[in-house]
Amino acid sequence: MELLRVIKYGNPILRMKASKVDKIDRSIWKLVEDMIFTMQHDGGIGLAAPQVAQSLALLVVDQGLIYEDGQPTAYINPEIIASEGEAVLEEGCLSIPDIREEVKRPEVITFRYQNLDGDTLEEKVDGLLARVLQHEIDHLKGVLFVDRISHLKKQLLKKELKAIAQEEMTYMKQVA
Ligand code: CO
Repeated sequence: MELLRVIKYGNPILRMKASKVDKIDRSIWKLVEDMIFTMQHDGGIGLAAPQVAQSLALLVVDQGLIYEDGQPTAYINPEIIASEGEAVLEEGCLSIPDIREEVKRPEVITFRYQNLDGDTLEEKVDGLLARVLQHEIDHLKGVLFVDRISHLKKQLLKKELKAIAQEEMTYMKQVA
């Protein structure tokens, strides 16, 4: 297993629309394994492939942090097909360190995805899992949780976000 670098706010990959995963092959299995390792190492509850600089429609969630018998789970090509209710919960993101804000989102979602065996599954979930999935599915569309807070709150975070972006730019120049 390989520890991957989580890219940060300001990196343009986070703003790209992720490509559909056409073939679930060994490279996808390895990416999932590395993403789960990285998510758990960095203390995240979820991680989307664009956050490790792979613009693919794939994400992992550590269900062990949600349910007693939960396991880290991969969701490939996930798509929300219905949602209901409304909930306000605090969110953070490994790509936006040290910032947490309350975000309003639907409380229950029905979504479709493929598992690592390529089976298409449909599930209806609520609570923390629904929240994490919505946050991660946003990543696949280039959307970040700070896009979903009020304009005023975002203004207040402007300096911190700018500092994260500047650090990321410096990093990108070093590896270029
Ligand atoms: Co995130």
